[in-house]
Amino acid sequence: MTDVKKLYIKTYGCQMNVYDSERMAEAMGGAGYVETQEPSEADMILLNTCHIREKAAEKVYSELGRFRALKVEKPDLKIGVAGCVAQAEGEEIMRRQPLVDLVVGPQSYHRLPEMEVRVRKGEKALDTDFPAEDKFDTLRHRPKAARGPTAFLTVQEGCDKFCAFCVVPYTRGAEVSRPAERVLEEARDLVARGVREITLLGQNVNAYHGAGVGGDWSLARLIWALSDIEGLERIRFTTSHPNDMQDDLIAAHGECAKLMPYLHLPVQSGSDRILKRMNRGHTADGYLRLIERIRSARPDILLSGDFIVGFPEETEADFQATLDLIEAVNYGYAFSFKYSTRPGTPAAERPQVDEAVKSERLQRLQALITRQQRAAQDAMVGRTVGVLFEKAGRLPGQMVGKSDYLHAVHVSDAGAHPGDLAQVEITGSGSNSLAGRIVAI
Ligand code: SAH
Ligand code: SF4
Ligand code: F3S
Repeated sequence: MTDVKKLYIKTYGCQMNVYDSERMAEAMGGAGYVETQEPSEADMILLNTCHIREKAAEKVYSELGRFRALKVEKPDLKIGVAGCVAQAEGEEIMRRQPLVDLVVGPQSYHRLPEMEVRVRKGEKALDTDFPAEDKFDTLRHRPKAARGPTAFLTVQEGCDKFCAFCVVPYTRGAEVSRPAERVLEEARDLVARGVREITLLGQNVNAYHGAGVGGDWSLARLIWALSDIEGLERIRFTTSHPNDMQDDLIAAHGECAKLMPYLHLPVQSGSDRILKRMNRGHTADGYLRLIERIRSARPDILLSGDFIVGFPEETEADFQATLDLIEAVNYGYAFSFKYSTRPGTPAAERPQVDEAVKSERLQRLQALITRQQRAAQDAMVGRTVGVLFEKAGRLPGQMVGKSDYLHAVHVSDAGAHPGDLAQVEITGSGSNSLAGRIVAI
């Protein structure tokens, strides 16, 4: 009998970490591990971490502390830290928390199985290289198990933009695009295993320029090629940068039926003075003009954004400009954060805004965003929209899925199954989701 070991992975941060955790679990599958949802059963615990804000990074240490008792009970338990905190702090993690056996960065996790062998021998293993080989080449052959109807697929990684507040260019490295054929191969494989919706991921996904037939492909070209895959019904992508929103991608939003009418396009601030200090490379007006062009290609598109409040030197007038921009755009969804000082980034050296001022601004901004989100969701009532069902709801016979516009929708009609793509008439709007009635499957 082979010795099956159990792996518990906890994922923090963005969708790319969700994707990476899946790939790490697959890599460890090859080394005899199966996944468990129970840390107490695990032979190895991996935290896939996020370094974007101070709170995210600190969470890792408090979580690690909680595993101390488990390790006392089970001395063979191995504990690893992966992801962006691993990349940013490296060896420091093992110094601060000696429980940690293994530290692996986001570009070297294909080496996990070799590292596991070393930690099993009682060594410590650290790998935060940006290796010359492509981790996805090593991870090419995925298990063929069936899976749910939606999946993430990383097509581009890293960032060369160096926004003054952001750690990502340091934790994920330089911008790299995967070759188009590799992406298509992975997408076909996912579809063969039951996937009907793919979200293409990249820190700057619309800067995608992977090698393809006839030269480098744009993201739009990749989307068109993906849309030819039979059985793949929906395509999404995230996160985009305003400066990389090329004409062919805007046009695809109007022309490619499988490309969903939802776009996450962070702007961070509505003040040109702050945008400049953030090193964003665009103005508020430039962003608004871009939104106009996108909306003329696809009038019903739902827009979402990210906002940072209390960036160093942000005045009340700067903040008001952000509120004005939000009013002008009218978002369907938005994520907002208090500025968090990140070691090694240029903004950390600038005069900081008082914490209480940040909190108060965040509240005002979130009140405005909540109103817009609510209005966008309520406006769906009476419309018939596509819904891809993902899982059973809490009530008997209930199914939940996501609309084309990414709203959660639940129906009570028995008879729908996960993976069904239905036309649903929206009949009600609750606090976090819509209710509907299936018109056609
Ligand atoms: N590549 C994406 C997202 C990067 S991180 C982009 O360019 O938009 C996701 C979000 O976290 C950012 O959009 C930003 O709003 C927020 N963020 C990044 N660094 C931050 C910091 N130091 N403090 C607060 N929020 C931050
Ligand atoms: Fe960070 Fe800016 Fe790069 Fe986005 S574009 S990952 S916010 S540096
Ligand atoms: Fe966090 Fe790294 Fe993603 S810092 S947001 S996990 S790229």
